[in-house]
Amino acid sequence: MATRTDNRERKSSNRSSNSRNGERSAFSFGSAGTSGGTAPLLGALAAGAAIGIGANWARKFLMQKSESISAGNEWDEILKLEHRATLAKFDMLLATDDSDTGKRASLVKTIHYALNKHAHQEEQVVYPALRQANETVDADHLEHEHGYVKTFLYELENMEKDAPEFLSRVREFRNLIEEHARMEEEQVFPRFKQAMSPEQDKKITMLMNKEGMKML
Ligand SMILES: [Fe+2]
Ligand SMILES: [Fe+2]
Repeated sequence: MATRTDNRERKSSNRSSNSRNGERSAFSFGSAGTSGGTAPLLGALAAGAAIGIGANWARKFLMQKSESISAGNEWDEILKLEHRATLAKFDMLLATDDSDTGKRASLVKTIHYALNKHAHQEEQVVYPALRQANETVDADHLEHEHGYVKTFLYELENMEKDAPEFLSRVREFRNLIEEHARMEEEQVFPRFKQAMSPEQDKKITMLMNKEGMKML
């Protein structure tokens, strides 16, 4: 009876015999067959990609930097600023009516994007640092609430934007975000910040900005 391992071995030996016969795979850039005419084209593509990546990185850097500067270059102030900005988007959403379905869809997308970036920064840097500082209970509680934030986002993204219950769900979601932000801003973050050295404080800001850039 042929086993899966036998099949794998056969496929692998077919691949190597194909390359021995000079057949090129779609991934065989740089092999003998691509020399000559296509090499300058590949070089130009690589250079173009490098410029594109550079420009994209610069854009992300400037976006994160401007947010960081307006928040005074402090991780907790940056997060506070993001809380305010997101709650303001919720207020815009609550001011819509059932005929504004396009505006609702676009605001839900904006909120989704903002909350994803925000949660990523907290979950990759701030909450792990909290756990290291023995604030595990609060870190776990906050991360658990992020799970419900994702559930609400899923619901709003997939709900008809003129559904009769749309605004009441948005209001519930806004309340959850506001309470969560209040706990971070008034209890957890100030206590954590007070206990850390200026070096740790700077390091968390630097690490958080780095993670934030990945989500821009
Ligand atoms: Fe949070
Ligand atoms: Fe937060």
